Amino acid sequence: MPGLNLGIDLGTSSVKIFAEGKGIILSEQTALSYDKLNDEIIAIGSAAAEMTDRNPDSIILQKPIQGGVVSDFSAMTEILSYFIKKICKNQIFRPNMVISAPCCVTSLEKKTVIESACSAGAGKVHIIDEPIVSALGAGLSIEHPHGVMVVDIGAGTTDIAVITMGTVAYSTSLKIAGDSMDEAICNFLKRDKDIIVGLPTARKIKHTLGCAVMRDEEIEMICSGKDYITGMPRPFNVNTSEVYKALAESVTQIFEGIMLVMEQTPPELYSDICTEGILLTGGGARLFGIDRYLSQKLGINVTLAADSENCAAKGAGYVLRNMKKLEDNGYSFRSKEKVYG
Ligand SMILES: Nc1ncnc2c1ncn2[C@@H]1O[C@H](COP(=O)(O)OP(=O)(O)OP(=O)(O)O)[C@@H](O)[C@H]1O
Ligand SMILES: [Mg+2]
Repeated sequence: MPGLNLGIDLGTSSVKIFAEGKGIILSEQTALSYDKLNDEIIAIGSAAAEMTDRNPDSIILQKPIQGGVVSDFSAMTEILSYFIKKICKNQIFRPNMVISAPCCVTSLEKKTVIESACSAGAGKVHIIDEPIVSALGAGLSIEHPHGVMVVDIGAGTTDIAVITMGTVAYSTSLKIAGDSMDEAICNFLKRDKDIIVGLPTARKIKHTLGCAVMRDEEIEMICSGKDYITGMPRPFNVNTSEVYKALAESVTQIFEGIMLVMEQTPPELYSDICTEGILLTGGGARLFGIDRYLSQKLGINVTLAADSENCAAKGAGYVLRNMKKLEDNGYSFRSKEKVYG
């Protein structure tokens, strides 16, 4: 495709953009903040997300993607337009885009993504199933004829898909992912320590101490929260064993979701997965030991992709470069025209 070509992963927590010939050039929160007194936009992207919990009541933080699906069209368009202007600066040509979308989204939701991209300044737009781009971004060979299972643990959803010959044969989406793990930590601290913390603090605790299998060494950190009883600020200690306990249910639910897809997978594909193993992508897959936990429970090899949160954007970039070759190998993309019918 001539002109500037972009591979885009519209995620619940962040938008990642891959530019042909440059790699990942943008990774910012999918967020916008505005002043409800005059409807004026205050900040977009990571600058908006940083305002959470510290902003005055009149400033509202909007996250237009919920559970992997665009739920607020106009906020999404504002965010995309801002990012595209930031990247394209004074470019005359409209950029062509390959955008990854979770496979559970409906045609109507795909149209919303396309309209949002076009209103934001896109030229040609192609939509492709997220598990396929994630697998390509993780380095899966496109000539690969065998069945492969990709489990993408994002912020809003965990998407479990079986891919074979360029198409998604089976997939399911769970609402258990990074965001719900943050909530599980907040609930644990309230229940066991009478401490209230915001989601950003819970996320920091998850990144530092979170684990799906017990760590060899106990790590502890000191955080600040609010006493649930008195409402006063209170520093508190939290350690890895406690966070392990807080996240155990989320981790078990991910395992059960994978089991359910395995049970529905026909025998030939099932045996392919047993031989090839499972590929983990998405930022949530960086939870310490989740690959080891799943591998032990399933008795199958589970591999964490390198740079797991950027796999979908990198894969969309791969599609930009190899569209013809991929089509020849049975892969399909839905252009704007195809989605509109
Ligand atoms: N080291 C880590 N341990 C645990 N979780 C992590 C770690 N690093 C990142 N995460 C989590 O990964 C999630 C973000 O992953 P990702 O960027 O793949 O999500 P997304 O694409 O925005 O969401 P979705 O795919 O659900 O729409 C966040 O919940 C973040 O807290
Ligand atoms: Mg994602």
